[in-house]
Amino acid sequence: MNSARDLSWWLSRVVAGVWVLFALWAWEKFLTVPPETLVPGVVVDAGPVDRIQVGLARTVYVREVPVILLRLSEEVVVALEGTCTFAPCDLTWDPLEGVLVCPCHGDRFLPSGKVLSGRAVRPLSVIPVTLAENRVFLHWRAYHGDHTENPAVAGKTH
Ligand code: FES
Repeated sequence: MNSARDLSWWLSRVVAGVWVLFALWAWEKFLTVPPETLVPGVVVDAGPVDRIQVGLARTVYVREVPVILLRLSEEVVVALEGTCTFAPCDLTWDPLEGVLVCPCHGDRFLPSGKVLSGRAVRPLSVIPVTLAENRVFLHWRAYHGDHTENPAVAGKTH
């Protein structure tokens, strides 16, 4: 009888422990917001610079908005809106030509955001970037609603 009661007591503790671990895991997941889902109006940590090879690009998503990070050199990263300005079509980076290409109708954009060729009229928005502690930070507040074709803002790795 005692052993059955002991077993029941231990089982209830194990179940309670599992629930506590699950609750901690869920809470940690809730608090850890991936950079792709951070809201505008903040500086968005877009991840380590080293994830982008020099000469190549990486797309991150901020509130489901694609942002293309171009690593033009060891210390220069450019961030541009990743959607064609002619129609909603996600751009790709052509490292051989050094241009962003729209797969839908072939429009091409320079890393400055300027339209190189095609139907699009509006340049791509450039998102101010800071490099710090070997990470890429997007200044989302400055970008949001801002449609300039300013050259990229980049910083040095500290
Ligand atoms: S949607 Fe980009 S060129 Fe047509």
